[in-house]
Parts: sequence; structure tokens; C-alpha cells
Amino acid sequence: MTLAELENAKAQSLAEINAADASQIDALRVKYVGRNGSIPALIKAMKDVPKEERPAFGKAVQAWKAEVEAALGAKGGAGAGERAVEADLTMPGRWRGLGVKHPLSRVIEESAAIFARLGFTVADGPELENKFNNFTALNTPAHHPSMDRSDTFWFGDDCLLRTQTSPVQIRTMMANKPPIRVICPGRTYRRDTTDATHSANFHQIEGLYVDTKSVSLADLKSVLAYFAKEMMGDGVTVRFRPHFFPFTEPSVEVDFTCHVCKGKGCNVCKQSGWIEVAGAGMVDPRVFKFVGYNPEEVSGYAFGFGVERIAMIKYGIADIRWLYENDIRFLSQLG
Ligand code: PHE
Repeated sequence: MTLAELENAKAQSLAEINAADASQIDALRVKYVGRNGSIPALIKAMKDVPKEERPAFGKAVQAWKAEVEAALGAKGGAGAGERAVEADLTMPGRWRGLGVKHPLSRVIEESAAIFARLGFTVADGPELENKFNNFTALNTPAHHPSMDRSDTFWFGDDCLLRTQTSPVQIRTMMANKPPIRVICPGRTYRRDTTDATHSANFHQIEGLYVDTKSVSLADLKSVLAYFAKEMMGDGVTVRFRPHFFPFTEPSVEVDFTCHVCKGKGCNVCKQSGWIEVAGAGMVDPRVFKFVGYNPEEVSGYAFGFGVERIAMIKYGIADIRWLYENDIRFLSQLG
């Protein structure tokens, strides 16, 4: 192509662009400046232009290209702006922050991993339970205060939001034969008034171990002490206090030494040096009868941890409500 021919082609292309409407602009962009368009083809063919004509020819091609682009730009056309952005491959990508896991999910997942090392698998049960699984089979007498309408969310006479994860003990035993070694993490509901340490909806991690060999309170204690150290670090001490639950005998409440003061006493542990984290005990023989096991042949222990409690101790969270507000400023600090 001679210089004159080039000027001709340029005039033609500009006339074509100027006469085009917006819908044709993309096609013209491809035709002239696209990867296989006529202007790039000319640039590639530069090596065939006689050496002494090359500078002038090159300039003319560049000028053509610039004018065509200006004309295309002036016409706009669909995606003109986007295309310009896309074309700059050196631009930094769009930043999308990596999320962090919610502290409650982290405690549950870590617990499952710790108990897995001791041979426990994870069982699951529904949040909407019946009276038998949540109360009766757990040996809870009809007059027990937890059955009261002011303490439990009832839907009719036989349907309720589970007040504890313990009904999963019943479901697991009814569906399996010993030996049983499960934990069951999940949501639980009570008609508590919400304050800094209480919420009407919270989480527990149930544990159940049943075997035909004799299982003792010492087994329970060693497993919970192992869990405490794995979850909280070596400095933690576990304390059992006598307590009562209808479905365990004997029953205990389990405290960890306060992580903040290491047992000396501070305002987090209300000066006691200890924080209550779980209820536990040896499975009551009457529970075994309810699920069709022979209490003469099997024995076992059960425990139920408060997930929020552990999260609050572990991460130094002062108010339980922060766990439910989804405030990114709070959650992102725990990544
Ligand atoms: N379910 C009891 C509670 O919610 C805790 C518990 C679980 C106690 C297992 C003993 C055995 O308070």
C-alpha cells in the first residue's frame, strides 16, 4: 500500500464510522482495530515497506489508528468504556477480602477435630423435637420446671424447639447398638431473656460414650481434661462440681480455670477463678431402659458443652450478643 492509498483507505474508514449508528460500532472496531483488523495488518506488513519510506508510512499508520479510535470513541457504542478497561491487562484486579469463619463455627469445627482424635464421630438431630426425645426419655419428670411453657418454646403438646442437644443421645442410641462414641453440635433454644451472657438461642456440643465394658467417671474426666487442654491450651485446669441432671447419675458441672486471670479471680470469672462450661455425668440407667438397652450390660457417660461459653473464653468476648450481630468490625478481628 502506498501512502496515497493509505490516505484513501483512512478517509473511507472515517466516513464509514461517522455514518454508522451505535449498533454498528462494535463491528467497525473489529474491522479496523481488532486483532485481525486492517490497521494491525498494516503494522505487521511494515517490514515489506522500503526502508526509506518506513518512518513516514509508520507515522501515517499510527495517525490513522488514532483517528479511527477517536472516531469510534466519539460514537460511543455498547461497552466502549468496559472494553477500554478490559484491554488494560496490567490493571490491578478487583479486591475481594477473604472471609473469616464465625467464632462459633470455629469452636464447633475445632471440637469435632479434637474429639475425632479420640474416636468420636459427629451425629446430628433436628432442632424441632418431640417431648419424648427432649424430656421423657431423658428421665425428666412431668413436673420438671424446664418443661414449663415459660421456659421452653412449645408448638402444641408434643412439639418444641429442643432445649438441649441431649435428645440426640436418645436418637443415636435408638438407632445404634453400643459401643457408641459421638458428639452432636447444634442449636438449642430456651425462653431466656437475652443479656450479656444469655440468649434465647445458643449452641451446645453434646457428647455420648456408651460401651459394654464398664465405663467410669474417670474416663469422662480424662476425656474432658484432654479436650480442655487441646481447646484452651496447657494452662487450663478442669474442675468437676457435683450437680443434678435427670439423665445422668452422678452428675457434675464442669468448670475451666478462667483464661483471663489464670484462676486468680477477675471480673470475667466473677472473682471465682473458674468458668462453667459444661454439664456432664454417667448416663442414668433409666435412660438406657427408655432406649431399649439393658442397664446391666452397658454403661457410659454424657456431657454437654456451651459453645458460646467456650468461644467467649477462648476469644475474650465480653457480650454474647456480639456473636449474633454479624458486625463485620467485630468478626474480622477474630480472623
Ligand atoms: N443437657 C444439659 C444442659 O443443657 C447438659 C448435660 C449434657 C448434662 C449431658 C449431662 C449430660 O444443661
